[in-house]
Amino acid sequence: MDPRPNGAASCAASRISERMPLTAVVLAAGLGTRMRSPLAKVLHPLLGRPMVGWIVEALQSVGADVVVVVHHHEEAVRAALAPWNVRFARQSAPRGTGDAVRSALAELPATGPVVITAGDTPLLTAASIHRLLAAHRSNVTVAAFEARDPAGYGRMVPGVGIVEQAACTPDQARLRVVNSGLYVMEAEYLRHRLPDLVPHPPKDELWLTDLVDAESTVLDDFTEAEFLGVNDRAQLAEARGVLRRRVNRAFAATGVDFADLDSASVDVTVTLQPGAGVGLGAVITGDSRVAGQVGPHCVLHDTHVHAGATILAGSVCEGAVVHAGAVVGPLARLRGGADLRADVRVGCFVEVKASVLHEGAKANHLSYIGDADVGAYANIGAGTITCNYDGVSKHRTEIGTGAFIGSNSALVAPLRIGEGAIVGAGSTLTQDVPPDAIAVERSPVKHTLNSAERLRGHYRKRGGRR
Ligand code: UD1
Ligand code: CA
Repeated sequence: MDPRPNGAASCAASRISERMPLTAVVLAAGLGTRMRSPLAKVLHPLLGRPMVGWIVEALQSVGADVVVVVHHHEEAVRAALAPWNVRFARQSAPRGTGDAVRSALAELPATGPVVITAGDTPLLTAASIHRLLAAHRSNVTVAAFEARDPAGYGRMVPGVGIVEQAACTPDQARLRVVNSGLYVMEAEYLRHRLPDLVPHPPKDELWLTDLVDAESTVLDDFTEAEFLGVNDRAQLAEARGVLRRRVNRAFAATGVDFADLDSASVDVTVTLQPGAGVGLGAVITGDSRVAGQVGPHCVLHDTHVHAGATILAGSVCEGAVVHAGAVVGPLARLRGGADLRADVRVGCFVEVKASVLHEGAKANHLSYIGDADVGAYANIGAGTITCNYDGVSKHRTEIGTGAFIGSNSALVAPLRIGEGAIVGAGSTLTQDVPPDAIAVERSPVKHTLNSAERLRGHYRKRGGRR
């Protein structure tokens, strides 16, 4: 099943789409200067999906054929929406919401309902679109809500239609039921009315809201939160928080265990299997697939955690594969090509890159393992470093099955440690070690007897003079 929100179309929607082909227009031609961003406003990412992608996803899940109106950042918007297979209409200059829908007319069918919505309200749900469609009987059906602060919105004025903020009388300005910007309108009605829209000074904009009149159906019990418009980074973060919880709840419903639905952040591109565990504050992105347990504050990108594997607190994994029974962390770092086979143990402050650790191998503390092949059940002592880089090229290290590498060894690649070999602690190895051999590279220790206290005395005297 698809655990992502908006992923499941209800029976109501299928009935509607069977009755009539449904078209939707997404208005996404605006610039969004308040984001203070080089990126188009509607392309800002929310959990691995561009903002406008959330709207498109909701519309497609009710069976709509989607047309996106573009102008600013047109090429970028087209490219980002490629996975959704939508159609585009180009607004030659953004001259208001009425003009935006007018530029989409050529893409609309002759008859049938058209859902119209803005591209910057990513919290819109499929359920609300259904509800509006189900209530659609006249030429126009409008979704409205009671705003805490109606400033900036068009007011729903009974017996009149929508009066924009700029045109409100003081009495109208006090009305708190406002236009959400989500509508269903009949295609025929749009074709008939859009050409006659009159520009509103001072910016000479054409307002879509002029098509709403006393005959229109208004559903005024939507919730304000769902129509949060993203105009700046604070609203972007707010929207991200709501979506995070929605995605997590949807995964939880499929049997994923979350320590905390609010703080864990799982992108919609991620696959979580039933039985997977996600710790407090964990961040999982990209093409990650998780069936095992991910501890608190771990960061996973493009990482595959098999069932029975455990990633402990604070580990950062990117492009890694962790097999059943393996335990990683706390505070470990797995980089691209880290392949940890069954029952491997990678502990605190261990970094692994482009290396296979075969079944049961252990590197429990403070190591760098890069470009290495570590044999099954090999033991890598604390502080071992594979010196894989000579300043020009990278070289590989091969460690045989069951080998034992003493603590603080430097393995200068290219290097082979044979099966079952033992390397003494502190060795710097530049030559291959045969299987079953003991290699120790260590300078002899010099003991100067009865002299430690004398040396301390010397230091004290010197210190006193300063
Ligand atoms: C609009 C409504 C207002 C409603 C509010 C809800 C009109 C005239 N007013 O006001 O009644 O309460 O939304 O949020 O429609 N866009 C284009 N091309 C344009 C102009 C706008 O594509 O030429 C897009 C924008 O990118 C945006 C959406 O249409 O996604 C809404 O436009 P915006 O200017 O934000 O309308 P509001 O002033 O908020
Ligand atoms: Ca707006």
